[in-house]
Amino acid sequence: MSEKNFYLTTPIYYVNDKPHIGHAYTTILGDVLSRCHRLLGEPVHFLTGTDEHGQKVEQAAKKNGTDPLTHCDTYVVRFQDLWKRLKISNDDFIRTTQERHIVIVQKILQDLWDRNLIYQSNYEGNYCVGCERYFTDKDLKDGCCPDCGRKVDRLVEKNYFFKMSAFQQQLIDHINAHPDFIRPANRRQETLGFLKQPLGDLCISRAKSRLSWGIELPFDNDYVTYVWFDALVNYISAVGYLADDAKFNTWWPANFHLIGKDILTTHTVYWPTMLMAMGLPLPMTVFAHGWWLIDDTKMSKSLGNVVNPMDMADKYGIDALRYFLMAAMPLGQDANFSEEAFVTRYNADLANNLGNLVSRACTMIVKNFEGKLPAACEATDAEKELLESCKNAAAAWESAIVNMQLDRGIGEIMAAANAANRYFDAMKPWAMAKAGDTAGLARVLRNTAEALRVISGLLYPVMPTKMTELRQAIGVAEDKIAPTMSNLAQWNLMEDGATVKVIEGSLFPRIKFEG
Ligand code: ME8
Ligand code: MG
Repeated sequence: MSEKNFYLTTPIYYVNDKPHIGHAYTTILGDVLSRCHRLLGEPVHFLTGTDEHGQKVEQAAKKNGTDPLTHCDTYVVRFQDLWKRLKISNDDFIRTTQERHIVIVQKILQDLWDRNLIYQSNYEGNYCVGCERYFTDKDLKDGCCPDCGRKVDRLVEKNYFFKMSAFQQQLIDHINAHPDFIRPANRRQETLGFLKQPLGDLCISRAKSRLSWGIELPFDNDYVTYVWFDALVNYISAVGYLADDAKFNTWWPANFHLIGKDILTTHTVYWPTMLMAMGLPLPMTVFAHGWWLIDDTKMSKSLGNVVNPMDMADKYGIDALRYFLMAAMPLGQDANFSEEAFVTRYNADLANNLGNLVSRACTMIVKNFEGKLPAACEATDAEKELLESCKNAAAAWESAIVNMQLDRGIGEIMAAANAANRYFDAMKPWAMAKAGDTAGLARVLRNTAEALRVISGLLYPVMPTKMTELRQAIGVAEDKIAPTMSNLAQWNLMEDGATVKVIEGSLFPRIKFEG
């Protein structure tokens, strides 16, 4: 793997229901990070997809009166369409029902079976259909599933087990030696805490008599594979493990598995021990973000508080939604989603701050310079603060990407937009125009345009469509619309005399919250 290559994944989502704002969030975050790393000049591979086997999907299909594959074929489109609408730039989309995935899962199972890392034994336990997991008696809460509270089934049956316990110490050592393996740090502690107790072996089979919708075990056709053992493999089957060595070596190990905190154990215990058994290197980082809450409670269908991302995008625009989700959640913590907060943020940051500056600057260039960008000129003391805050924003954004503090980075970019507005107000270009100070006017408008070039370039990964519009309006050359980080650290890069246009309506029209 080249030092520079960047392979990033999202969870593959269950196709038992349509996507909600939580799924949209992780995928948008993955997209923003992918675009940021492209901005830094790195080759990026961005993977998302769908988890199509298991009980949840089988039951959803039954409820809809159809067979599981037909159900998946219908529901997967809802995810794919949403990602297209939200401008998700994924390089691949994996479905676990694809042949390219199924054959690899079976090859892995056969190999582990041949090497006695999978064995057969009797299993007795409490099974939760909803969570598709077994729980010990001790795990249960009032006799029910500790995660979802539903009644569990008592089962005794022959099953197949992955020798997860054999890798416990190796995993603990790896986590301790690689502080970036599990992020943020509180999640690393959570996993280390979990590993203080002896790690059991993992039941990786489900009897077909109870669940037939899964990948058949290659060594026992009465069983299908446990959905998590199947799903996690997507991260390597999608990049050619055991199928395309060149591709696999280009991208594996992944730089980033992006997940929500609900699936921490599967990604920081099951998955790394599976990889150790296969003799593969572990991903560089598993990053678990927090939950979007509604009035401090988790979104759930039964509570009827699920936010549909399509509705938000229809109402306020795709880029506004992307912006709000990135700006309003400190990565790693939970955050409340409210439409009112969305509108407030939109008006403050996008309409009043950034959008207003764009329209003021472009209007004056069109009016006073026939729409031609004034020539670059030596910066004076008056531009000092402006240049500094733009430079600071570029540096802050770069470290925000590495440190996973996108909300803070966005804050610094907005601070630069504020500084540009302050500069504009202090210089009073309208008074310069009136007084016939053409040189002064040219200097102010050129420097404002340069600030907008930097700001729009930094925000380009977050709002690709709106920032393209902005960059076209201020006269950024067509081949420079997609920015590079090195260009954003410099000043006076636009062409003198480039064509500037006023955006009709406005880039971010003010909106009113209608409760
Ligand atoms: O767990 N806030 O799929 P899933 C933020 N198929 N993010 C949220 C969220 C919320 N309220 N709700 C969901 C699965 N998410 C498995 C994954 S991976 C090999 C298999 C996001 O459809 C978050 O990323 O239940 C979470 O981890 C994921 O959706 C779970 O999606
Ligand atoms: Mg879930």
